[in-house]
Amino acid sequence: MTDLNTGPLDEEARRILRLNDKGGYTVPTAGLYPYQWNWDSAFAAIGFATFDVDRAWTELETLFAAQWDNGMVPHILFHVVDEGYFPGPDVWGTQNAVGRGAQTVPSSGISQPPVAASLAWRVYRSDPDAGEARLRALYPKMLAFHRWMMEARAESGAVCITHPWEAGRDNAPDWDEAMAGIDPVGVQPYTRRDTGHVDAKMRPTQADYDRYIWLVQFGRDRDWDDAKIAEESPFRVADPTMTFTCLRSSRDLGDVADLLGEDRTQVDDWIATLEAGAETLWNPETQSYEGRNLRTGNFTGSVSNAGFLCWWAGIDKEAARATLDGVLDRARYALPSYDPAGPQFDHLRYWRGPVWAIMNYMAANGMAEAGLAAQADRIRRDTAKLIADRGFAEYFSPVDGTPAGGGTFTWTAAVWLDWASPSARES
Ligand code: DGY
Repeated sequence: MTDLNTGPLDEEARRILRLNDKGGYTVPTAGLYPYQWNWDSAFAAIGFATFDVDRAWTELETLFAAQWDNGMVPHILFHVVDEGYFPGPDVWGTQNAVGRGAQTVPSSGISQPPVAASLAWRVYRSDPDAGEARLRALYPKMLAFHRWMMEARAESGAVCITHPWEAGRDNAPDWDEAMAGIDPVGVQPYTRRDTGHVDAKMRPTQADYDRYIWLVQFGRDRDWDDAKIAEESPFRVADPTMTFTCLRSSRDLGDVADLLGEDRTQVDDWIATLEAGAETLWNPETQSYEGRNLRTGNFTGSVSNAGFLCWWAGIDKEAARATLDGVLDRARYALPSYDPAGPQFDHLRYWRGPVWAIMNYMAANGMAEAGLAAQADRIRRDTAKLIADRGFAEYFSPVDGTPAGGGTFTWTAAVWLDWASPSARES
């Protein structure tokens, strides 16, 4: 990419969003992920907002229309059943789930990083006149989502996950210890579908998958009762992705409350809890924020891009800057999802090395806000170069830029339009 001709790339990104638009909701990519995913969808909204702000709001509204009565917004909404994906709604078995209430949209039984409030705020700011009524209507739903998350997942102050899919970083080394503690006996026979769409070396291993399905069965057997799962599951890991996105979204919800003239006391309480909780994720040995196994108190020693979301969350730690600079020096393309010097590094395997445009978006925007202009600029330039040279892939090798996972990917297109493209308005 020497001379970036932005026009055709912007047009291609818009084409991808339209292609993946199933009418009111967007799939991450056809085939591999044929449903509406929670955080993918929120990122789709910032892409749509660059050329069709009405469609951006619709995306968020469809997501929150599937909210459970207890406030949880599921990680997958199975609008139209597609046999090309496993596990589908029959495996999740959420129809009688505790907390689901009157909700009729078939869904999974877990959530995903709560980026929606931050990205709704972003969509609003792109066109305040078009957005105020729609932001006002979404506000109580976003508040209920956060209330659920704080009550059901934040007993340590940090936000934890009950399944690796909840973090969105499915096979990150952060979960290795907790995953090793699961003996996946009793998993019903199943056929993976993901490796029919994508090269197996870019996906989680079979050992991971057996445990993913074991955890789904574990939740289903408990009717997705959060209290029972919190008490009985062997897998409960506090996660920097969840914690930092929740903290950032809480701050943004506070701004929404101010705009709408709502009382923000509860949001401020959550911010204080999460700020304290985030510090429990600081591993002095690696000098980074990491996932922490709540069953043992252990870290896995994993320096990841999730740890570098601290600036997105408004936390600026001097020692984290040094760790970041080391990782940037070791990566040809930033940001790797796992330190290239780490023992588990695998440049193509999903969350054990590859670069993800959405993580770059959050990390770099946070760094820019904290005054880390050079690091933010490096990450933005690398994101633009990867996309311009290698296409709108799900993720990329930080070693040689190989495009990996699914193609024509919604959130990569959205991040291009809103931020990485030279034509993007100033963030
Ligand atoms: C998958 O199917 O790989 C997803 O990440 C689950 O959410």
